[in-house]
Amino acid sequence: MRKLKIIMAYSALETVPREIAGHPEVRRHAERRGKPPTKLILDKSYHYHAMSKLKEKESRGRPDIVFMFLAAALSSPLNIRGLLEVYIHTRQDLVIFVNPKMKPIRSYERFLGIMEQLFEYGRVPPDSEEPFMEVRNMTLKHLVRKIIGAKGIILMDPKAPLKKPREVAQLAFEHPVVVGGFPRGDYGLEAYELSLHRYYIFPAVLDYWLVADRIIASYEELVGVYE
Ligand SMILES: C[S@@+](CC[C@H](N)C(=O)[O-])C[C@H]1O[C@@H](n2cnc3c(N)ncnc32)[C@H](O)[C@@H]1O
Repeated sequence: MRKLKIIMAYSALETVPREIAGHPEVRRHAERRGKPPTKLILDKSYHYHAMSKLKEKESRGRPDIVFMFLAAALSSPLNIRGLLEVYIHTRQDLVIFVNPKMKPIRSYERFLGIMEQLFEYGRVPPDSEEPFMEVRNMTLKHLVRKIIGAKGIILMDPKAPLKKPREVAQLAFEHPVVVGGFPRGDYGLEAYELSLHRYYIFPAVLDYWLVADRIIASYEELVGVYE
């Protein structure tokens, strides 16, 4: 049976950039964590003041978006049945490959620790043959066309026409679904270039993970997960 493929694109997930690594707020946090500042994951809730100097700060430092998305996706019945593939693309053009057998991470602090390890070693656990997560340098286009082997994507976009989650799920038999992983602004150009369909599933902005969850739930119904 065909798997549902969901990509969280342009996610606000990165390590602390060098230009703010010396800020006292970041240094204090790094000391508490016992790590060099640039090995920490940038997080607005810990680095708010330091981030005031950062370019495009509104769309950065929100690892919680990825945390919630992964928790919802990995614990879904669709994933338990082995019918879901999730990918995290970041605004720096990194792609995280998630092993569907990975246990959902329930603590946010633990999630940050795992992400720090992933960015440092490229995989988690670092010495595993079959890692739970792996990160590679890759554009969204490369992921969609070369790795997934799809022509294009279905873009979940608050500026697009309305379509029911069930109808989006129907189209998702053919194309991967893309949800934004950024708190403000728009997708990067490549997302629009790749989009074959652009839809909005409800006439109000919803939480990222909830959008993904509604598509997953509709897909579960279509493929008879509850039969
Ligand atoms: C919460 S929005 C935030 C970004 C938004 N452009 C902004 O500036 O407020 C993040 C993502 O959730 C998805 N999203 C939110 N509400 C949606 C809806 N009603 N229908 C479809 N997708 C939605 C889209 O993929 C969007 O990129």
